[in-house]
Amino acid sequence: MTEAPSLKLGYVVIESERIDDWQRFAGEGMGMHVERVSDDLLTVRVDDRERRIVVKRGPAEDVVSLGWELADDEALRAMRKHLEANGVSTGAGTAEAAALRDVPGFFGFDGHKGLRFEFFTAAKRTNRPLVAKTSGFVTGEGGLGHAVLFTRKPEALLADLQRLLGARLSDTITDKLQGTEMEFWFLHLNERHHSLAVAATKGVRLDPLRTRVQHLMFEAVSFNDVSDAYLRCKELGYRIAMGMGQHPNDNGVSFYAISPSGFEVELGFDPVKIGADWDVRQYRGISKWGHRPEFEPTKAEKRATIWTALKSLFRK
Ligand SMILES: [Fe+2]
Repeated sequence: MTEAPSLKLGYVVIESERIDDWQRFAGEGMGMHVERVSDDLLTVRVDDRERRIVVKRGPAEDVVSLGWELADDEALRAMRKHLEANGVSTGAGTAEAAALRDVPGFFGFDGHKGLRFEFFTAAKRTNRPLVAKTSGFVTGEGGLGHAVLFTRKPEALLADLQRLLGARLSDTITDKLQGTEMEFWFLHLNERHHSLAVAATKGVRLDPLRTRVQHLMFEAVSFNDVSDAYLRCKELGYRIAMGMGQHPNDNGVSFYAISPSGFEVELGFDPVKIGADWDVRQYRGISKWGHRPEFEPTKAEKRATIWTALKSLFRK
């Protein structure tokens, strides 16, 4: 049995028809460095990488790829071998797709709800300064942030993420959200408390989400960066899925805004790092304080959510 080399989240690719709105949301709201490459392409920087978030024109209105970074070519080759040894067939990205991501090359496989898991090394760096409202973002050893996946089959997804990516359990949380009892599993791949989390309804497993990703999280360097972004997002009219609050497990302070594509984006500050003597704990309640919903979905949105949840019962 091979072991997965160490991974960190390196980039995300989003497909959207709302690129103007993404430019406003990421730039004016979240305070990231945005570059409008063309009418059909927006790229976003949060550090010395050219392309951490790529928003390309397309109908998915969703995250389509998560790019996982490996230390070097040897680790990249070992990862491919590890995936193939575990029965996952991987396909290489085209030169055009690699250029879009600003990486030398990559390979990947279709994972959760068709979400592409991609693997690369040696993304290009730039000396150009960031032009952003947020004073800085934390990436480094913990990577770009985290993604949360909602599923009807948490046990199978957790087993896959552990076996294929080498993810390890950080902790679990149960909570009743909007009348539904929920379970969350938080998984680390490096020092970041979680690079991935899995969410599921307890009891009857339903997936009320149209999108592959429930939310993406990015980490700002200061509390003020987060609170200022929260106020800007409100001012710009973006819906706040959860206002400022603090999680009990990673102690991160954050808020969640609904992105132009419908999934949520969390901007957080100061989550704890995983250390060598980490104890896996169980928590009740996803927040120590705050994180209150600040909008009421429309009737049509509620109907769509119920319909998606019911349809999910018949999905493989
Ligand atoms: Fe999160």
